[in-house]
Amino acid sequence: MARRTPVFQAIVACLSLTGTAALAQAPPLETRWTAPTPEGRAFLAAPPREVLAETDARPPYAVRLGHLAFRSPAILGGWVGRLGLACETCHTGGAANVQFFVAEVSDRPGNADVTHAFWRGPREDGLANPVNFPSLRGVRWTAPYGRDGRFFDLASFTRNVIVAEFGGAEPEPWLLDALVAYQQALALPPNPNLGPLGKLGADAPAPALRGEASFVRDCARCHLPSAAFADRSSHDVGTGGVFDTPSLLGLAETAPYFHDGRAADLDAAIAHFDGVLELGYDANERADMHAYLAAVGAVERARAPRTLAGDLADIRDFAKLLDEPLAGEDVATADVISAMVRRQLGRIHERFPGSGHAGVRDILVAWSRALDGVIGMARRRDFAPARDALAAWDRTVASGGKTLEAAAAGSFYDPEGRASPP
Ligand code: HEC
Ligand code: HEC
Repeated sequence: MARRTPVFQAIVACLSLTGTAALAQAPPLETRWTAPTPEGRAFLAAPPREVLAETDARPPYAVRLGHLAFRSPAILGGWVGRLGLACETCHTGGAANVQFFVAEVSDRPGNADVTHAFWRGPREDGLANPVNFPSLRGVRWTAPYGRDGRFFDLASFTRNVIVAEFGGAEPEPWLLDALVAYQQALALPPNPNLGPLGKLGADAPAPALRGEASFVRDCARCHLPSAAFADRSSHDVGTGGVFDTPSLLGLAETAPYFHDGRAADLDAAIAHFDGVLELGYDANERADMHAYLAAVGAVERARAPRTLAGDLADIRDFAKLLDEPLAGEDVATADVISAMVRRQLGRIHERFPGSGHAGVRDILVAWSRALDGVIGMARRRDFAPARDALAAWDRTVASGGKTLEAAAAGSFYDPEGRASPP
C-alpha cells in the first residue's frame, strides 16, 4: 500500500465547486505535483504553449471535446482522478511536464514511476522504475507508442493509460475518439531552422552545419531527418533496454533525456552516444553536435503565460461543446461535458485564494451552479429553455470576466503578487 504524504492527504476532489469553504484557501492543486523550486514555479506561471495543427480554422468539434477531456481528471477515474491528475498534468500543453515531481514516484523532476503502488492501478510491479514524460507534440507521426513501443495506435494506448495504468473506467467510445482526435491535432511547433526533409538552411551557423554532417554519418540511420528524426522502431542504445527511437524535434523543452531522464542535458546525451557508438569525437566535434541538436530541437515561443483571460476563453469555448448534445437532446453526454466544464471552473476558483477573493469565488460558484441548472433543464427534457439558458450563461461569463480581472491582484494570475506555493 502506498504511503501517503501530507501533501496528498490534503487533496480532495470537491472541485466542481460544491466543496467546503476551507478548501478554498488551499493553493492550486498543481503546486502539489510540481517541483518546489523557482523553475517549478516558472513552469506553472508559463506552461508550454499548446500548438494545434490547424491554427487558422477553429478546431473541429472532436478536437475541442478531446481538449476538454485531456484536461479532465474525471476520465482517469478512481484515486488518480481524485488527486486531480489529468492527461494535461503530465503532458502539459501537449508537451511534457518537465517539472512534475511527487516524492513517492519521482526520482527527478519530469519523471514518475507509472507502475508504482502509489497510483493504485492494476499495473503495480513493485519495482522502482521511473520514466521520463514524453512530449506528445506531433504524436500522430511517432507510432509506436510507449517508451518501449508496445502500442501501434493511439486509441489502444490511450485506453490503456486510462484503464490499465491509472485504474479508470472503460472510456465511452465518443470520449476515446475525442481524446485521440485531440492528440492527433497536436502539432510540432514550427522550427524556422529546418527546411524540407529536416535539413538545416544553408545560412545556418557553421558549427551547426558541421554537426549536421556528423549527424548524417553517425545518427541519421535511426533519427531520420525527413521523418521527424525518428524511425518508428526500437533499439538498444545502451540505456538499459530496447526503446522506441524518439523524435529529436522539440528537445529544447524536454530535458532531461532518454526514457528515464538519465541524461540531464544535450551534452550528456552526446557523450553517451560518443561512448556507445565508439565515435571518438573531440571537444570541437561534440560542440558542433550540440549546436546542431540545439538547432533541430529549437522551439519557437515555447511557453506562454497562463492568464485569466485565456482560462476564461477556454471555459466559454468548452461550454459551447454543450450546444451539440442539447440540440441532439442527448442528456447523458451533456451531463458528462458539463461536469468536465465545472471542474475547469474549479481550476480557476483555486487560483483565487484567501478571504480577499471570497467575492470572486462566489461568482465562480454561481457560474458553476448556473451551468448545472442548464443540465437540470435538459434532464427535465426542457431543451429549448436549456439552450437559451446556456446562451445567457455565456453572456454572463463574457461580461463577468472584467470583474474577475479587476480582482486578480494577489491571485495566482497576478504575475507581480503571485501567491507563492507553500
Ligand atoms: C502521471 C503522469 C501521466 C499522466 C496523468 C498521463 N501520462 Fe501519458 N505518459 C506518461 C509517461 C511516463 C509516458 C511514457 C510511458 C511509457 O513508456 O509507457 C507516457 C506516454 C504517453 C503516450 C505515448 C507517447 C509516445 O510517443 O510513445 C501517449 C500517447 C500518452 N502518454 C497519452 C496520455 C493520455 C491521453 C493521457 C490521459 C488519458 C495520459 N497520457 C496521462 C505520463 C502520464
Ligand atoms: C541505433 C539507433 C540510434 C542511433 C544510431 C542513434 N540514436 Fe539517438 N536514440 C535512439 C534511441 C532508441 C533513443 C532512446 C533511448 C532511451 O530512451 O533510453 C535515442 C535517444 C536520443 C536522444 C534523447 C532524446 C530524448 O528526447 O530523450 C538524443 C538527444 C539522441 N538520441 C541523439 C543521438 C545522436 C546525437 C546520435 C548520433 C551521435 C544518435 N542519437 C544515434 C536511437 C539511436
